[in-house]
Amino acid sequence: MKLLVINGPNLNMLGIREPDIYGKQDFAALQDFIRDSAKALGHSVTLFQSNHEGEIVDIIQSAYGVYDGIVINPAAYTHTSVAILDALKAVGLPTVEVHLSDINEREEFRKFSYVSMVAKKTICGLGFEGYRKALEWFK
Ligand code: DQA
Repeated sequence: MKLLVINGPNLNMLGIREPDIYGKQDFAALQDFIRDSAKALGHSVTLFQSNHEGEIVDIIQSAYGVYDGIVINPAAYTHTSVAILDALKAVGLPTVEVHLSDINEREEFRKFSYVSMVAKKTICGLGFEGYRKALEWFK
């Protein structure tokens, strides 16, 4: 399948950012992991990262008619963005939500996810492996 993998704000800081929560591996390592996992599963993937909500809305809109599905870690926008939720609803593509950390076991404000309202599945707390599981879901 042809899948779009979206990573939201601050995920480009992996390795530097709170390594006790997000791990010591950097964002380049995550991208390699996603590409390798997709290849092993027979998917073609496009990787996109942005720190800007509007750019994430734009890439979701541009996925319409182009991709078979979306894997998204909206990062902090998970908990705030009606715009990303609406964009995902607008394109109607099957979406799997991923979080490196377990958002249910952290601060109270992280327990709520707008994207979960549209996601077919939410995977959290598995680190990089969560992305592989998300890609596997599309098989
Ligand atoms: C995150 C969890 C979010 O609460 C946080 O804002 C992030 C990363 C995760 O992958 O665990 O930036 O989505």
